[in-house]
This record gives sequence, structure tokens and C-alpha cells, in this order.
Amino acid sequence: MDRFQFHNPTKLIFGREQLQALSKEVPQYGSKVLLVYGGGSIKRSGLYDKVTAILNEIGAEVTELSGVEPNPRLSTVHKGVELCKTKGIELVLAVGGGSVLDCAKAIAVGAKYDGDMWDFAERKAVPKAALPLGTVLTMAATGSEMNGSSVISNEETKEKLGWGSIYAYPAFSILEPENTVTLPKDQTVYGMVDIMSHVFEHYFHKEKGTQVQDGFCETVLRTVIETAPKLIADLENTEYRETILFCGTMALNGVLNMGLSGDWATHNIEHAVSAVYDIPHGGGLAILFPNWMKHVMHHDIARFKRLAVNVFDVNPEGKSDEAIAEEGIEALRAFWNSIGAPSRLADYDIDDSHLDAMAEKAVRFGPFGNFALLEKQDVLEIYRNSL
Ligand code: NZQ
Ligand code: ZN
Repeated sequence: MDRFQFHNPTKLIFGREQLQALSKEVPQYGSKVLLVYGGGSIKRSGLYDKVTAILNEIGAEVTELSGVEPNPRLSTVHKGVELCKTKGIELVLAVGGGSVLDCAKAIAVGAKYDGDMWDFAERKAVPKAALPLGTVLTMAATGSEMNGSSVISNEETKEKLGWGSIYAYPAFSILEPENTVTLPKDQTVYGMVDIMSHVFEHYFHKEKGTQVQDGFCETVLRTVIETAPKLIADLENTEYRETILFCGTMALNGVLNMGLSGDWATHNIEHAVSAVYDIPHGGGLAILFPNWMKHVMHHDIARFKRLAVNVFDVNPEGKSDEAIAEEGIEALRAFWNSIGAPSRLADYDIDDSHLDAMAEKAVRFGPFGNFALLEKQDVLEIYRNSL
């Protein structure tokens, strides 16, 4: 295990009927609130009315920024920063999925910066301050509710870049499973693929002595695999929603990767695809992850064998390590197919016309991947195998 410090400043408010906590949390930061939300799901579900009723009750002065896109855009971040600066906003409150939260994080740091927030994504500057951020999550997927990461798309340059800062952690996040029951089947599937992918990113590492972390990862994976079919068949079941919601937060709040550096190449490869084609992040991961696995499995076949046996119940008897590892990867593909996730880039009408441009974007900051270092040629091969 590598040495580490763990510090997660987000207050997690989890479980049924927790929304009223807003009335205690918000006033701690001020009364001028920027309410950030997406394309209307919170209005259709009734959550918008509940949140604004609580904000009115406590006398908050609310400014709204609606229409945050899935794969949130820099131009929307700019609108939010402008509102914060002109209205003297004291708290940014994000109500929605990962895209809304990521956009709100970018707004919160941008509001305390004289330059363009994009400087942070391009590694030209680092945030030194942020407005406080609160969140009410409506979809289990990214883990953004309890981490300091955000992913923003620059529509002009067609880039999608992740950035992170200790200042971007939400001060508080409210996670009620009830608020996720309206999520349609396709997004529910993308969310579960994303959650599993975050765990895979941690699971493929090079540290030794990580029995606890590896075991935690396997438990989260097995829980999603066990719960996913039940949830898909019963989308309004709050018990299953709650389980997946908890898996999503645990997958990317820093707990599973204490003392190790995960790989993270597949996320980078996927971001380059969704930068060019604006596809759902979880859909892209479902296509790419098994192909990344096949490409790198020889770096540590024992780890892939362990995944196959411990998570996918592959029977190892009489089989070579390679055959077991491959069976595990095929079991992952079959599982994702069984819940309706896409498996080829062609499912999104993506052909080979922009592969080179996407691979260039992926290596923008040089070769990458902590478990297996990838160069542009590797990325191209993974894309070709995913067509
Ligand atoms: O915009 P609205 O109308 O709210 O609809 C959204 C959106 O269309 C809808 N939705 C969300 N909650 C709903 C709902 N519809 C009905 N009922 C509900 N309860 O779902 C659609 C997708 O939402 P989005 O926020 O885009 O999904 P997700 O949470 O998967 O976020 C994806 C973004 O997060 C980034 C991705 O790259 C992508 O840009 N990521 C952020 C990470 C982080 N901050 O740590 C890590 C991830 O790996 C990921 O890269
Ligand atoms: Zn992800």
C-alpha cells in the first residue's frame, strides 16, 4: 500500500426523507442561492417544487440557472459564473445528476477566479477558492456528490476535460433514493455501468498489500451485478435504488482507492469519444472497458483471473490463467448486454472517421494509465476493436 492522507470534507446526508435538511444546511452559507438544474427532469418529478418551497420557507433569495446539458458545456458554466458575480451569490445549489453537479462545481470555482474557468481544465491554473456548493442528487452514477472532480465540455474546441480540486468538494450532499426513481431505464443502466467502471479503475492498480481495498471493490461490483437486474425490472423500487445510490457514492469518494493509484485510462479514452460525439458517458464506458481489459490483461493476468473468479464466479478448474481472465471479461460484456448497455461504437453510429482525432485528444497530456501505460497507438487499437 502506498502512503496516503484521506480527507473528504463533504457532509453526506443519505437516506429516505432527507430533503428537509436543506433548511438547516443552506442558511449556514448565506441567503443568496444560485439554483442550478438540468433540462427539466426535476420539474417533471416534483423535486423542483419541493426544493423551492424549502428555500422560500427559509427566506433564501434564489437565482436560477436551468438547462445544464448532459456533458455540461463551458458556455453554461460561464453563464453561471456571471450570475454569481453580478448577484453576489453565497451558495451554489445543484439539483440533478452528475452533469448538473459538475457544472455547479465549475461555477463555484469560476466565481472566485478572475480568469476563465477553462484554465483549470487545461492545467494552466489551479483553483485557490470557491463558493460553497450544496447538492441534491437525482441519479446514481458519477460519485460527483462526494468528490472534488468535475468534467466539462468545451463546445468550441470539442474537448471534454476532467479537473479536480479540494475546493470543488460539495459542502453537503443530500441523497434520497426517492429522487432517483424517475430515472428512465437507459440512464439507470448508464449509471450502473459508470459505477462499475469507477470500481474497475481502482481495481486495476500495481500496489501490493491491498486486500481490504480489493475486497471492498469486489463487494461493490457484486452488489451492482446482483441488484441491477432487479432494479431494471422494477425501476421505482426505492430499496434497490438506495443500494445503487450508495454504491455510486462509495465507488468514487476516495474510500476504495486509499493507498493506491487506479488506472483511469478508460475514462480518458471515453471522454475523448464523448467530446466528439456527445454520447452518454456510461454508454461509452460499456463499449470501451471490455476492450481496454483485453488490450492490457497481459500486464497482470493474475488480477484479471481474480476478477473473473471472485466477481463473475468463473470456475477456474482445468483452465489456463489466460482462459479464466478472458472468460471474466466475456462475463462482464454479457452482463452489460443483459441489462441493455451498448457494446459497439456502431450502436451510436460512430464509424472510423474520427478515430485519429479522438486518439489525439486522449493523449493530449501525454501517455496515460497507471496500471498499463497507453500511447496513441494503443488507444487507436482499442477504438478499432470497439467499432
Ligand atoms: O437534465 P435533466 O432534465 O435533469 O435530465 C437528466 C439527463 O438528461 C436525466 N436525469 C437525471 N436525474 C433524473 C433524470 N431524469 C429523470 N429522473 C431523474 N431522477 O438523466 C440525464 C443524464 O444526466 P447526467 O447528469 O448527464 O448523467 P450522469 O450523472 O451520468 O453525469 C454524466 C456526466 O458526469 C461526468 C461524465 O463525463 C458526464 O459529463 N463524470 C463526472 C465524474 C465526476 N464528477 O466525478 C466522474 C465520471 O466518471 C464522469 O466522467
Ligand atoms: Zn465515470
